[in-house]
Amino acid sequence: PFVVTDACIRCLYTNCVEVCPVDCFFCGEVMLVISPDKCIDCGACAPQCPVSAIVPDTDPLADKWLPINAEFSATWPSITHKREHPPDADAYRDQPSKFERYFS
Ligand code: SF4
Ligand code: F3S
Repeated sequence: PFVVTDACIRCLYTNCVEVCPVDCFFCGEVMLVISPDKCIDCGACAPQCPVSAIVPDTDPLADKWLPINAEFSATWPSITHKREHPPDADAYRDQPSKFERYFS
């Protein structure tokens, strides 16, 4: 499956959800995750993300983020359409290590 990583945190552009053919995105307060059980590995979402937050499970970042995507996709609500991104989303673009910066 493809995996959402911490580049999504506080950006939430949601371009990715529009192209997913199987509706496997789930929305938390500060980022989305992909359900690894539902993802069919089509790859359509990754190039839609302006901050390259979505990677295949072969990417080294997936070691950390695949379990997080699996855990939270089981409880967060589904999101199937693009939403307005947070007003300050651009301020968080391209910040490195957002998870460590904001959640540890
Ligand atoms: Fe959806 Fe395809 Fe992205 Fe998986 S790779 S989340 S199926 S758009
Ligand atoms: Fe996040 Fe990128 Fe989608 S910022 S909401 S993974 S378009």
